[in-house]
Amino acid sequence: MPIIASHLVTIKPSAVSVMSAKALELERQGKDIIRLSAGEPDFPTPDHIKMACIKALCENRTNYPPVIGLPELREAICLKLRRDNTLDYSPGQTIVSSGCKQIIYNAMAATLDPGDEVIMVAPYWMSYVGIVQLNRGNPVFVPTSLEKGYKPTAEDLEQAISPRTKWIFLNSPGNPSGAVYDEKDLKALAAVLRRHPNIWILSDDIYEFLVYDGAKFVSILNVAPDLKDRCLVVNGLSKAYCMPGWRLGYAAGPEDLIKAMFKIQSQSTSGATHFCQWAGVVALKGDHAFIPVHNESFRQRRDLVISLTEQIPGLSCIPPQGAFYCFIRCSEYIGRKTPGGAEISTDENLVSYLLEEAGVAAIPGTPFGMSPFFRVSFATAMPKLKIAFERIQTALNALR
Ligand SMILES: Cc1ncc(COP(=O)(O)O)c(C=O)c1O
Repeated sequence: MPIIASHLVTIKPSAVSVMSAKALELERQGKDIIRLSAGEPDFPTPDHIKMACIKALCENRTNYPPVIGLPELREAICLKLRRDNTLDYSPGQTIVSSGCKQIIYNAMAATLDPGDEVIMVAPYWMSYVGIVQLNRGNPVFVPTSLEKGYKPTAEDLEQAISPRTKWIFLNSPGNPSGAVYDEKDLKALAAVLRRHPNIWILSDDIYEFLVYDGAKFVSILNVAPDLKDRCLVVNGLSKAYCMPGWRLGYAAGPEDLIKAMFKIQSQSTSGATHFCQWAGVVALKGDHAFIPVHNESFRQRRDLVISLTEQIPGLSCIPPQGAFYCFIRCSEYIGRKTPGGAEISTDENLVSYLLEEAGVAAIPGTPFGMSPFFRVSFATAMPKLKIAFERIQTALNALR
């Protein structure tokens, strides 16, 4: 009898982890790799947050935390949701997990029966697919396009709905597209969801604070508060608070769902790291002045990447209004041959070629559900971005 579960055969590891491992291996061999692959800010965690963790350690907050999250952090989450999103939740309607990823995993483990469908807008964060499949659900995709700003229309959503639809995932600002849904977009989607009262909404707001050009984050619950009793608001500290390694995420939603997610957590991780949660309290309640400073830097880097992309014939990208990724269309390079004679048939081939020949790590569009594209993160210093794009241009010029 094989040791590996049969359903795992079709599930792929996250493309970001695969690319990180490849880049690391090449670095070990002495190659100079510029990583535009990671989905994390390049700024360190702000000092006041780090100090809160050190204090918690010195106070010996090293025992098991309450599985569902520290009461102080759950209160801070409620305060944050009221202050930043005008959403009212009580601590009993919240849960803390080891990252937003685990929140989503717990939610799917707690709710999916085999064959249940989960709608996601393509291009989507690739782990949505893996998480749904690991929990025996079926991902269903709503296609969008670069031309339409990667936003789905009400009709697109309606077409994806079936009697088996259990959830729709909304992610604005979006990874990898950077699309930010405005009130009008969300009202249109809410109108469809009102006609389907059995569908639950997972609102992944992790890039909430990372918006540019005056774009504003809006929650679907701001335009459709009537959907609150079937919505799970998901957020985390990895991105805007520069805390990806701390593994802190949280959710707010109906108490029954939160209790079911607690059940999964109590039989798996036992909750997020205790002393990190104290730092989370300070992050959510403390000084946020660093966020606009970081955002200005991200905006400048985004503008740089857009202008560098425009200088390379055959690449196209629209300026993302949020998050820190540029999603670049590369169709003109598909079907060409490398100087060594290998055919570039997919964006995955192109990204491997860029890694090996140009020493630039990006992520192909295929695992995000849209190809031929590749994603670069602009959470990287400007001089590095410039060198990376010079290298990309040289490598693409060499294709025949
Ligand atoms: C859209 C989206 N949701 C969730 C996550 C997971 O974040 P966390 O670090 O909190 O697990 C990511 C991370 O890249 C993401 O891009």
